[in-house]
Amino acid sequence: MHVRPLHPVFAAEITGIDLRQPQPAATIDAIDAIEDAIGQYGVLVFPGQDITDDQQLAFSRQLGPLEETRGTGISKPHEMRLHPAFADISNLNVDNTVLARDNRRRLYSLGNMLWHSDSSFKPIPATYSLLSARIPVDKGGETQFADMRAAYDALESDTKAEIDDLVCEHSLIYSRATLGFMDLTEEERATMRPVRQVLVRTHPRSGRKSLYLSSHIGKILGWPTPEAMAFIRDLTEHATQPEFVYTHRWRKHDLVMWDNRSMLHRARRYDHTQVRDMRRTTVGDTRPTIAQAEAA
Ligand SMILES: [Fe+2]
Repeated sequence: MHVRPLHPVFAAEITGIDLRQPQPAATIDAIDAIEDAIGQYGVLVFPGQDITDDQQLAFSRQLGPLEETRGTGISKPHEMRLHPAFADISNLNVDNTVLARDNRRRLYSLGNMLWHSDSSFKPIPATYSLLSARIPVDKGGETQFADMRAAYDALESDTKAEIDDLVCEHSLIYSRATLGFMDLTEEERATMRPVRQVLVRTHPRSGRKSLYLSSHIGKILGWPTPEAMAFIRDLTEHATQPEFVYTHRWRKHDLVMWDNRSMLHRARRYDHTQVRDMRRTTVGDTRPTIAQAEAA
């Protein structure tokens, strides 16, 4: 396995490994090396991985328990193209036709264009996301990543002291409301109840602190909401300055893996009439962030 930095601090390309064919004897070492690399860089790009859904599931499961997407979001079971352990980041219907511009699921999915950390709206959020580009678009559709460790390190010491023990509420309701998507049924709202996450977390492998921001944040506990949201907006502006951002331009068969504990990401715009087929598997953490912080 060869690691080549794509950015001095927070993105690297990994070659010399075939994710389609995990070799049992070498697997443990390979997984450990991948976790070391992602602990350092935050984002890993594996080019040329022409992978099937089953192979993506098998590789992802070696990194921890997979999340299921059923029961989150607004897609009904009969509208889902992929195995329930996949998040469908395409713009496709079950029959592989392109979603209409005003399709409700498409509009809902535009929340991915806001800076976020995957599954921060779940009581136990995600560690790694693995996104496979089966059919990328020619133009646009990049994914940007922002390093929340570097962003935390660059804060002034009085800001660090102020935020170290803060707890936020995260919900899909908040991120969608930011784009004016309020059209949720009572049943959908019931699946999106806010959860609590610490605002500063410590990575279990590297010991580094990071800002745990996300567009899913709608409150800071104990703060008046407008003041909280103005502050979260300030912190997000600080944390997503160009010096903390890596932009990934997708090539067919790239598999990109990132650590949601230390990186924010967002999708960029693309021509909505073009087919884009991207498939994400997501590894769940083992404990809520508040319990992690108390144990640290
Ligand atoms: Fe995402």
